[in-house]
This record gives sequence, structure tokens and C-alpha cells, in this order.
Amino acid sequence: MKTIKWGVIGTGRIARAFTEALAGTPDTELYAVGSRTAEKAVAFAANYGFTKWFGSYEELLSDKDVDVVYVATTMNSHYENCMLALEHGKNVLCEKSVTINAQQLRDILALAEKKGLFFMEAMWMKCRPAYIRMLEWIKSGAIGDIRYIKADFSNHVRYDADDRLFRADCGGGALLDECVYPLTLVYDILGKPDDILAAAHIDKNGIDLSESVILRYKGAYASVDSGFEVSLKNNAVIAGDKGSVMLGDWFFVTNNATLYDAEGNIVEECSVSEKINGYEYEVEEVNRCIREGLKESPLVPQSGTLAVMEIMDEISAIIRR
Ligand SMILES: NC(=O)c1ccc[n+]([C@@H]2O[C@H](COP(=O)([O-])OP(=O)(O)OC[C@H]3O[C@@H](n4cnc5c(N)ncnc54)[C@H](OP(=O)(O)O)[C@@H]3O)[C@@H](O)[C@H]2O)c1
Repeated sequence: MKTIKWGVIGTGRIARAFTEALAGTPDTELYAVGSRTAEKAVAFAANYGFTKWFGSYEELLSDKDVDVVYVATTMNSHYENCMLALEHGKNVLCEKSVTINAQQLRDILALAEKKGLFFMEAMWMKCRPAYIRMLEWIKSGAIGDIRYIKADFSNHVRYDADDRLFRADCGGGALLDECVYPLTLVYDILGKPDDILAAAHIDKNGIDLSESVILRYKGAYASVDSGFEVSLKNNAVIAGDKGSVMLGDWFFVTNNATLYDAEGNIVEECSVSEKINGYEYEVEEVNRCIREGLKESPLVPQSGTLAVMEIMDEISAIIRR
């Protein structure tokens, strides 16, 4: 099995969690880490045991032995970082939301295609066993025609002007940070909506602190809440005319999915424990794609990532009217 040499750019919260999964995945090398500052790169490399460190992202991207780059920077930087990585001939896994608008993603996908490189949004939810089982049940017709979806991602976050979540210059706001998960779930099941209704709380800096969205389809609708203002249970219910599926609390990271019949009796349960911290499924999927020479992951198709970005562009315009 070819060992995949990973390069990580950005040394913040998610880079740490993801690196723990890299470290525990077989045939996976913690090859290089890059930071805007050499001190942070040195400390991160020493802490996790990377082979190399770089005091700039471009130096890491210039290393010929990096097989794939994990972009773990703030959202405002994703476009520039991904374009630079692709220009340097690197395969890319980029954190969510992959860009701050759909046009940026179109540019990235065009460059990835031109260069013949792998590109994927780090939508780890779609690589997790309970989520995959949920989609299998729905595709098999187990719950019939979908009538209603309810999915939330909202948790109280103490205001901090320095936190990227509240900074316009870092691509802050609940839509791109949180709502992307329930919107991805809704898109995976119902596709693009015919119509969108939305309301939001927007602060004086233009940051959406919360939003409530209804996506309308022929014969079905979906209701999604997200935000930094209140803590919800964040489960997901997908209801059809023959039954329903529930994904457990924090549905995008849950290990549990349950299939019910139309009377609410349990038909099947899926419960799969994490091997490391849940990011390993995404690491395994990217490793597999790169070993097999794929340019995109069948689990996280680029068309779906782009469709969700387009939906978020539309919601962003509605809530700022
Ligand atoms: N999949 C998940 O479960 C998950 C969870 C949390 C976050 N995320 C995503 O991961 C990305 C990073 O989130 P995070 O929570 O890790 O953020 P964070 O803790 O603020 O770290 C972001 C890193 O980006 C780099 N960076 C580049 N340009 C920057 C700028 N202008 N201002 C500040 N930092 C900058 C910094 O690394 P250097 O200083 O080393 O260059 C910083 O450490 C976001 O896209 C977020 O949506 C995903």
C-alpha cells in the first residue's frame, strides 16, 4: 500500500483534530506542516511528529514530495490557498465551507480539472458510517417519498471579536460555518430547492449570528436552523410517507442512525463507534482516491459541493435584503 504523504496548512483548532486522525491512520505520513509563522510550524511539527515544517504555505506547496494538502485555514483564505496548491500541482482536501461563494469554487474546480488533480471539500459528515447508512435506507425506498426534513446546527458561542466566527475578514457567520451541514444533508436527499425562505439575525459588522431557512420542493419541504446564539440538540429527522430516519444529536458527527416505520416502530438501527475521532473516515477516503488516481471522491462529489455553495449564495442574498 502506497504511503500517502500529507501536508497540512494552518495550525488552528481543526488542524489539530485532523492531524490526530492522520497520525492514527495506517500508511499515512505526517509529512509537512506549514504556517504563516515559523514558530507555530515548528511547535506543531514537534507536537505531532511531522517530518518537515515550513514558515510559509508556499514553501510547503513547493515541496515535491507532498502527495496531498489539507487546507485548514480560515474561510477567507481557502480560495487563495487552494488555487496556489493546485498551481503547485498538489491534490487538495479543503475545509468547509470550501469557499465564501460559489464563483470561487467554480474557479477552483476549473483549475483542478485543467491540472488533473484531486479536489474535495472536507465534508467529513459524508464519509461517516451512520450518514452513509441513512442515505442507503432512503435510496432503497425504505421511508417512501420524502415529505419533510428537519436538521439543525446551532450552538451558543460566547462573542469574541477576535474569533474567526465573528470576523467578516475571516469569512465569519453561521451560514458558512454551521448551516453548511444541514444544507448539505438536505441537498443529498432532495437536491436543489424550487424556492427558499429565510430570516436571520445579522450584527452590525454584517455577520449572520443565526438563520432559519425553509427549502421548498414539490411535495416536500425542509426546515433548517443554525447559529451561534442558542444551543439546540442538533439532530436530524427525515420523514417519508412510509417511515422516517433519525440521525442522533449533533447529526453531522453522530455514530447513530435509526430507521422507523410509518407507525414509529424501530425497523433498523446503525451504530458504529469511531476508531480515532471520526476524521479518520475522511482521511481513509482521500487516501483511497489518491491511490486509485481519482480526481474527486464519489462520497463527496464536487457537483454537490458546488450546489450547496449556490444555495448558500441565495440564502446570503435573501437574509441581507
Ligand atoms: N470539519 C470540522 O469539524 C471543522 C471544525 C472546525 C472548523 N472547521 C473549519 O476549519 C477551518 C479553520 O477553522 P479553525 O476553527 O481551525 O480556525 P482557527 O482555529 O482560527 O485556525 C485557522 C488557522 O488558519 C490560519 N490562517 C490563515 N489566514 C488567517 C487569517 N487571516 N486569520 C486567522 N488565521 C488564519 C492560521 O494558521 P497559521 O497561523 O498557522 O498560518 C490559523 O491557525 C474553517 O474553514 C472551519 O470552518 C471544520
